[in-house]
Amino acid sequence: MNELLRQMLFLPEQASTFALDVDHLHYFVILVTTFASVAVGLVAIAFFWKYRQRRPNQATPMVNPTAGFEVAVITIPLAIFLLWFFIGFRDFVKLASPPPDAMDVYVMGKQWMWKFAYPEGPSSVGVLHVPANRPVRLLITSRDVIHSVFIPAFRVKQDAQPGRYTETWFTATIPGRYQLLCTEYCGAQHSKMWGEVVVMAPEAFDEWIKEQQRGLVSRQDVLADEIGQVSPQGSLAQWGKQVAVAQGCLRCHNVDTREPSTGPSWVDLYQQTTKLTDGREVIADEAYLTESMMEPTVKVVAGYQPLMPNYQGKLTGPEAAAIVEFIKSLRSDRTAQAIGGAEQ
Ligand code: CUA
Repeated sequence: MNELLRQMLFLPEQASTFALDVDHLHYFVILVTTFASVAVGLVAIAFFWKYRQRRPNQATPMVNPTAGFEVAVITIPLAIFLLWFFIGFRDFVKLASPPPDAMDVYVMGKQWMWKFAYPEGPSSVGVLHVPANRPVRLLITSRDVIHSVFIPAFRVKQDAQPGRYTETWFTATIPGRYQLLCTEYCGAQHSKMWGEVVVMAPEAFDEWIKEQQRGLVSRQDVLADEIGQVSPQGSLAQWGKQVAVAQGCLRCHNVDTREPSTGPSWVDLYQQTTKLTDGREVIADEAYLTESMMEPTVKVVAGYQPLMPNYQGKLTGPEAAAIVEFIKSLRSDRTAQAIGGAEQ
């Protein structure tokens, strides 16, 4: 039944844990609406016949439906629409809540290509390698205009916006190669802005990423040449530290102690609940940290002056991602290693 409907609707393979949920709702909606529109059409034809004019100037009789009939006509469709809403909402919440153990991959769209970077290295253009049967979280941004990541076989779609991070996640189930498309019109070559997702068996993926990390240093120059600023030195966190030093971030943010400086310390900042000057509270996640670099005066932390300069246009998407990775690596229980590691 699933296979028959999938083929009748020209849907791609179902290669993630979401695919069946999304498709089941799709089948439910399309079967009910098809059935209802056919029923309405047939009843209309029957009424054309039943109430046809039999003699000249015949008057149409007045028909008053019963209250029960009126109630049924309102509540049955309403119940069906609400049921769709609840199923869709449940699936949406699932799609919007990556599990905490998901593997992170940074995705950056730019006219007209996709770049992927793993926190521990490597990075690549156009081809995203992921393990099967493990949750993967995509942290998505854009360097120029709005793009949108679409992996049809996974039933996953999320916009990429300049200056901020959006996220989505999936667990791929079947090793193989799948299309990744840009699904937001973004300029002349939008239709060519596609890539490939390579789903590997988990063991093969572990091998592959180790291989890539080993080769990273020697291929550094090639990569830097090939994809601009995404790659360089080893892990994103290490690169993030270099960017933070170069941009002067560390003049105002401590990274070796939780003591505040001109700005809040970065140690243990990631996922911390932070109180703002206007009384709101935010969790310092990827989106908040990025926003704080790009538009620092929007959410100022309580107890601090809005002194921080705006880094919109000064930091590229991957640089902001690298700084976020650097902040994530600064845990008070691990600080010594993180700092030591970054200075190698
Ligand atoms: Cu990028 Cu369309």
